[in-house]
Amino acid sequence: MVLETVVILAAGEGTRMKSSKPKVLHTVAGRTLVGHVVHAVTSLQPKNVRIVVGAGREEVEAHIAEIAPHAVTVFQEKRGGTGHATQLALAGLSPSGTILVVAGDTPMLTGDSLQKLLQHHHDGGFTASVMTAEHPDPTGYGRIVRADDGSLVRIVEERDADEITRDIIEVNSGVYAFDAAKLAGAIGKLKSDNSQGELYLTDVIEILRNEGGTIAAVLIEDFIEILGVNDRVQLAESAALLRDRINEDLMRAGVSIVDPLNTWIDATATVAADVVVLPGSAISGTTTIESGAVIGPRTTLIDCTVGASAHVFESRCQEAVIGNDVAVGPFTFLRPGTKLLPHSKVGAFVEMKNATLGNESKVPHLSYVGDAVIGEGTNIGAATIFVNYDGVEKHYTVVGDHVRIGSDSMLVAPVTIGDGAYTAAGSVITEDVPPGAIGVGRAKQRNVIGWVLRKRAGTKSAEAAARHSNDEQKG
Ligand code: UD1
Ligand code: CA
Repeated sequence: MVLETVVILAAGEGTRMKSSKPKVLHTVAGRTLVGHVVHAVTSLQPKNVRIVVGAGREEVEAHIAEIAPHAVTVFQEKRGGTGHATQLALAGLSPSGTILVVAGDTPMLTGDSLQKLLQHHHDGGFTASVMTAEHPDPTGYGRIVRADDGSLVRIVEERDADEITRDIIEVNSGVYAFDAAKLAGAIGKLKSDNSQGELYLTDVIEILRNEGGTIAAVLIEDFIEILGVNDRVQLAESAALLRDRINEDLMRAGVSIVDPLNTWIDATATVAADVVVLPGSAISGTTTIESGAVIGPRTTLIDCTVGASAHVFESRCQEAVIGNDVAVGPFTFLRPGTKLLPHSKVGAFVEMKNATLGNESKVPHLSYVGDAVIGEGTNIGAATIFVNYDGVEKHYTVVGDHVRIGSDSMLVAPVTIGDGAYTAAGSVITEDVPPGAIGVGRAKQRNVIGWVLRKRAGTKSAEAAARHSNDEQKG
């Protein structure tokens, strides 16, 4: 079954969104609204995809070039209605085979349902087939008017409907399969004699029927698939419904999601079986998580790779590669370019960016690691700072294998700490430390004997000190 053409209508301003951003570029579950529609139609492998753009043309075109480089965009300068938009899309196309028309604001639509619509359309040899659903709250949708024999007579928009028609709960999804030649013949006959003064694509159904065409209404089971997003309330509704769908699919595939209502996983992320996701976590973008990993609670992963059996607790990570059996968190901030090799550990209140941590190495507490490579089996003491920025440029630090960086070290880049070297706690390291050496970069301690008794007489400290003899105080 070859699908000749898909037309996606995405030119509307989306006035009801009250946004400076074109409606179809609003995002749910990691894809734009139009991105979801493109994803669903791509599974049908159509020969041509035409997307009608209008409001925010440049932005929408740039986005489409990114997500659907093979699609052709058609410009609708002024909103003339869905019929007008379809007329423009068809211009210059040879009208053959089947055309699928889809609205760009229905993110819940699945490739499966589109496939079913096309199958029904082909099997019955229909002139047009409309996907419909029974909606508990049909407000705002076009109503499906059927004849006594059940056949589809016309679609009436809410604004143009009388009370009896408004009571119909079967609604138009905005998804249609057409015989391309018949559609091309009828589309020019649309009139704008309706409440909005627009050309409605929906009116083409009655025209085709009057010309002797056969029309099918294909009722799909789950109305949420056809949910159109017209405002922010519906945007949030569709986000929640997609969240539920994604979480349910993952749980059925073997992922443990402890609190599905409070777990937001993008449609674009990949989570393997036997991953456990704890409450309050968000897994977004191109993130991939391998089996046995434990994520959360309250963890955000954006475009990350998480290896098998890694644990990421209460942390925020972006564009980080977290290896097998790595431990991250709690309260860790991993920024782009962080690479944690297997069995390494990054602990509480540590920030890393553009840095590699070797096998079995640890940055357990309160540190900043930026622009660095750290070898294997190395320990970075608490409160170590990789001083990578001189106010103008960033510099690089190299730390070897089995190094012990003392607590509260400042490693002032560019600097290299050799294999097996140490730094003394509290050091400011400005010069390379050779392999096996200890770098000591701090003032030598001196004790001023009797200072408290002389300078702080009468204090509790002085009282405590006075309990000791002068000899004892010298230590
Ligand atoms: C439309 C249908 C309605 C259906 C509903 C399903 C018509 C007249 N009505 O109503 O029967 O129940 O979708 O969601 O078709 N667009 C353009 N150019 C235009 C006008 C619209 O490209 O001139 C695009 C919009 O960007 C949108 C889609 O077409 O993606 C639908 O337009 P919208 O204004 O949302 O139509 P609805 O009122 O939702
Ligand atoms: Ca709509």
